[in-house]
Amino acid sequence: MAKFDADFAIFGVFAADVVEGISIADTQISYTNESCIELFGELKGKTILEVLSEISGSRDKGHELLDKCRSEGKLAFEGKLAGKIVKYHSRIIEYEADGIHPSMKCIQAGLTDITESFILKKLLYGTSKALKRAAKAADEDTGDHVERINHYSHLLASLNNCEKQFIEDISQFAQLHDIGKINVADIIRLPRKLTVDEMNIVKNHAVYGGIMVKDLTGLEMAYNITHEHHEKWDGSGYPEGKREEEISLEARIVAIADVFDALVSVRPYKKAFSYDRTRQIFEEGDGRVMPGHFDPNLLLLFLDNYEKFIKIHQTQLK
Ligand SMILES: [Fe+2]
Ligand SMILES: [Fe+2]
Repeated sequence: MAKFDADFAIFGVFAADVVEGISIADTQISYTNESCIELFGELKGKTILEVLSEISGSRDKGHELLDKCRSEGKLAFEGKLAGKIVKYHSRIIEYEADGIHPSMKCIQAGLTDITESFILKKLLYGTSKALKRAAKAADEDTGDHVERINHYSHLLASLNNCEKQFIEDISQFAQLHDIGKINVADIIRLPRKLTVDEMNIVKNHAVYGGIMVKDLTGLEMAYNITHEHHEKWDGSGYPEGKREEEISLEARIVAIADVFDALVSVRPYKKAFSYDRTRQIFEEGDGRVMPGHFDPNLLLLFLDNYEKFIKIHQTQLK
């Protein structure tokens, strides 16, 4: 178990009973360092329940978080304190000092001001929405497809146990995967089956999309998605023929979402496949779509949870 180190503590909550769980709710914060006071005001003397309730926004939530801390020995969540967006993180550790019983435990906690990164994220998500609207205007037929891709990608990333931030980001940036179609809008809107030459021009949308977002700091994930969503696990995709883990995880996730939605939806050039037939295509291939195109672990997660993807398609279908 880690030891308490005052230099690294924003504040410490000393309580011999934290592991046994008699009551840490009423335990007072006994130490607050200077930067904490500067950023968030003096917290010393407040109870741990008061602080958690304040940051989380309610006393019930504060109790819930205390229980979590007690059972898991650590806690991390985001909330508001002193008008700022903060990340709270803490762990139960041993405390050793002269005259203190060796079994003493304490909660060592840190508070980070994430207001700026929070605002930046909001700006990026807003930018993503604006770009998506531009893409939709150029490609009306697939308009609602892009919103569904966000939902499938969120689900698949969650099933894959990706980090919270990754899941949040992919469900905001997956919608940009086809933004490069703006450059080929006149071709994709032709009311007929495209020729091979036209199809090859349309394929450039992955490159165009990448160029559009590549200089936007903070949109690296959007770049990977737009540029790589047609790459295939077996190396047969485009634009670069990347294979396996050369392709970013976000693009591998969006690739499954994109193909699934394309198969089960009506397009100007095709009817919708049934959910059963679509599943069969993912499992056995049909010559155009092959199981080897996809990250095998993600494909397994997708097929194991197929009903959930169908549900998104049905509820989000307009
Ligand atoms: Fe695409
Ligand atoms: Fe798409």
